[in-house]
Amino acid sequence: MLTATESDQTAVDLGASHVTFTFSDGAEHTLSIPTGSSILAAGLEAGLPLLHQCRSGTCSSCLATLVEGEAGTLPGSNSSLFASEMAAGKRLLCVTQARGDCRFTLGYDSTGGQQVSAAQTFVNAVERVAADVIRLELELAEGSWIDFRPGQFIQIKVPGTDQTRSYSIASTPAQLPKIELLVRLLPGGVMSEWLLNRAAPDAVVEIAGPHGAFFLREGEKVPHIMIAGGTGLAPMMAMIDQIRARPGRKPPILLSFGCTSEEGLFHRDALELRQHWLPGLSVQLSVDRGPASDPVRVGNPVEAVGQGGAIDPASVAYLCGPPGMVEAARSHLEALGLAPDNIHSERFVAS
Ligand code: FES
Repeated sequence: MLTATESDQTAVDLGASHVTFTFSDGAEHTLSIPTGSSILAAGLEAGLPLLHQCRSGTCSSCLATLVEGEAGTLPGSNSSLFASEMAAGKRLLCVTQARGDCRFTLGYDSTGGQQVSAAQTFVNAVERVAADVIRLELELAEGSWIDFRPGQFIQIKVPGTDQTRSYSIASTPAQLPKIELLVRLLPGGVMSEWLLNRAAPDAVVEIAGPHGAFFLREGEKVPHIMIAGGTGLAPMMAMIDQIRARPGRKPPILLSFGCTSEEGLFHRDALELRQHWLPGLSVQLSVDRGPASDPVRVGNPVEAVGQGGAIDPASVAYLCGPPGMVEAARSHLEALGLAPDNIHSERFVAS
């Protein structure tokens, strides 16, 4: 574990760069990383608590912000970041190399409390909440445990196959040993096939996690903006419930949630219930195509933000959904004055 004052510096080798990592609690660590090496690989080898999962530039778990110097994508690798995110200094450390001395900030602290664990679970419930969405409730087996922050995702080994799939957790750590997921059904998908045809109460499911740098930043008192498309609602449910459970004054929350059609809008009762519990929560529902009955609007959930009144530029934002929606939301919020560092996002990646 690093402390807030710890700083470990080694001499620069020929053909190496000084790369400094600054965690959100102020802890700093500087490494000498050979030119052409993955910054994530070097950091992990040195024992730094860097979040990661796929190591191939797709999951965004290893997201960091370049604040000094130059660093670019390793030759032969691909980063799933948008050009606008790269321009704002965002980098996926697993596919990034330093081009000289540089410094990164990380959106999480250095406590290293995010140990990825494998766990065994049992199916508690499989519930169709929309034509193309299933709510899957799992329960950790005795002796299994997993820690996570609201907003993070886990990997599931699809029973009877060698395939894994990633899903954001829709429940909070306080609800453990129960874990709730929202799964979008895809034609021909292995998870979809299992859920529709074979999943039954008490079936054994192996999971691993937590993963991802997309999670609720605790202690933020500023207004929260959440924009979700489809099952991108899952991490927002976890974050809203976490905020509700916190003691003290809650920040105002605007949730803009969109689906393709009104029949496909799910969890409306669950959202209404949370509005009763949390008077500062306002929910805007959107559908891509009509008809739609009031208060559901036809349009995308991104453009709905800012229509009902001015947005506080000090707000913190959480975005989750398809890549196009997330990119549009990021641009829209930056145009409304939000700082890029206050916009956190997770996008669906095709398996
Ligand atoms: S670990 Fe870097 S993008 Fe997944």
